[in-house]
Amino acid sequence: MSEGITIALSKGKLLEPTLTLFRQAGYSAYHVDEDDRRLIVEYPDHGHRVLIVRPSDVPVYVEYGAADLGVVGKDVLLEQSPDVYEPVDLGLGACKLVVAKPNGQTPVHRLSSKLRVATKYPNITEQFFNQQGLPVELIKLYGSIELAPLVGLADRIVDLVETGKTLKANNLVEEEIIAWSSARLIVNRASMKMKHATVTEVITRIKKQLSKVKVPQGKRRGA
Ligand code: PRP
Repeated sequence: MSEGITIALSKGKLLEPTLTLFRQAGYSAYHVDEDDRRLIVEYPDHGHRVLIVRPSDVPVYVEYGAADLGVVGKDVLLEQSPDVYEPVDLGLGACKLVVAKPNGQTPVHRLSSKLRVATKYPNITEQFFNQQGLPVELIKLYGSIELAPLVGLADRIVDLVETGKTLKANNLVEEEIIAWSSARLIVNRASMKMKHATVTEVITRIKKQLSKVKVPQGKRRGA
């Protein structure tokens, strides 16, 4: 058996598709029951140990070497800019990061006062509006971002859109696309050297599996 590695997976929407991809890539034991409360799951047959963590924490585990590999959305990577390798776009969880506003509201460039923008992505948001020369006041939220403009907390939001249903249900419309996102495999820099054979085997198997699957145009756009 090859040397053990630790893989940090994002819990939530990405978890099940990620486990499925690893199973298809030959890691047949990759299962986590819905009601499983374990944070570490061992797959001794493969020599893998899986950590189930919040998406925004995955880059932290990988950058500090608590995990050798991780799976996380490009949105999180753009926000945090961790010092890790990012060798594979898994194509899972394809979505876009957008600026959205209440339906019918004045476009950004016509507003004279400082714009208030609610988001989980303060770094990306600040950079985006700075590039446009628009001063903004950032309101950092941790979820249900679409609520902010509805109650007067913000003029705009910057958030992920997948199907567009949440925007529509809350009478918001997309104004600009900032970036495209999908899940990425990330690798700790030291692990890439110290555990080269094992890490490379995972990357190779995943890439091989992805090459078998024909992904529709537009679903694999990198950010
Ligand atoms: C995400 C995102 C949007 C929604 C978009 O939220 O922040 O709110 O999904 O999906 P849609 O375009 O398919 O409607 P999530 O469900 O992760 O919860 P959160 O708002 O608490 O972050």
